[in-house]
Amino acid sequence: MSEPRRAVLAGTGSYLPEQIVTNAQMAERVDTSDEWITERTGIRQRHFAAPHETAAYMGAEAARRALAQAGMTPADVGAIIVATSTPDQAFPATAVHIQAALGAKNAFGFDLAAACSGFIYGLSVADAMIRAGQVSAVLVIGSEVYSRIIDFNDRGTCVLFGDGAGAALLRADDSGSGAGLLSTHLHADGTLADILYVDGATGQRDKSAYLVMNGREVFRHAVTLLAAAVNEALTTNNLTPNDIDWLVPHQANRRIIDGVGRKLGLPMGRVVVTVDQHANTSAASIPLALDLARRDGRIQPGQLVLLEALGGGLTWGSALLRL
Ligand code: UT7
Repeated sequence: MSEPRRAVLAGTGSYLPEQIVTNAQMAERVDTSDEWITERTGIRQRHFAAPHETAAYMGAEAARRALAQAGMTPADVGAIIVATSTPDQAFPATAVHIQAALGAKNAFGFDLAAACSGFIYGLSVADAMIRAGQVSAVLVIGSEVYSRIIDFNDRGTCVLFGDGAGAALLRADDSGSGAGLLSTHLHADGTLADILYVDGATGQRDKSAYLVMNGREVFRHAVTLLAAAVNEALTTNNLTPNDIDWLVPHQANRRIIDGVGRKLGLPMGRVVVTVDQHANTSAASIPLALDLARRDGRIQPGQLVLLEALGGGLTWGSALLRL
């Protein structure tokens, strides 16, 4: 009997804007303090994009690095999925701008809107396309410029977000090696749409589109829903938290990350945390963290990595990946 086809992680890449903005610098702009931000969120700094650093520009840079790491060329890519809430334009999709920038002439592409859960949603779609035999390599990119949609008159939200991009290159593998995406689990509850949303258009039309969040309400749902999604991934694969080498969570708030880690009984030494450096980069946060922890040698081939995210929608989900 032939082995089931799996989507394996061939490479990751990321891009952060050059400009770093510390909490102290935010405190010069709004009525806040380094102490408040650090204590309530764990955030110490964020990157803010320059005008040329759009979702497409940053996504293309991250994708180039993922391709280089995988030793693959743009022509090898069959599809590009870009998870973003801040596209360069309403259309064409950010994905086709990235396709053009890379010269990925054999790829089709589209954007995916699932807010902070977008990368997990993208992985799930890519996994299905690869398993179905539709394509043999997919770039899943999260790229966000939240600095263009945050409301600098709202200190409760503007200190929380940053800009950046991360990319994962998935490729079909029939070898039966055991590596690859083991399962993905997606959820949504549109009845909670009003606790986290962006009014109006996004991307370049920054003056009309602002992020609105009831932080306490989102927080209340986050730990419970994320722990459930994580348990779903474990149960589906007959695994326990002990089997997990790394948790790479969406990076919204250190207290949420700690809460999920505690519920799982995972020591924090096995949780990748970047929220202190990047703040919340929405759909980009997981691929940014994954890339960082692979490049600095923490995440090793053969290890089991659990990903989870929750965001506007509400949307949430998890994915289990054997490197
Ligand atoms: O990625 C998408 C998912 N998003 C999330 O997961 C975010 C979830 N929510 C959170 O992370 C937290 O709810 C926040 C970090 C947004 C807020 O933390 P909190 O502990 O829930 O604070 P709070 O909203 O209850 O506000 C507490 C106090 C308030 O003052 P009073 O009413 O107690 O006098 C706020 O006005 O903190 C005040 N406050 C601030 N003070 C200084 C709110 N923002 C700030 C600020 N600086 N930036």
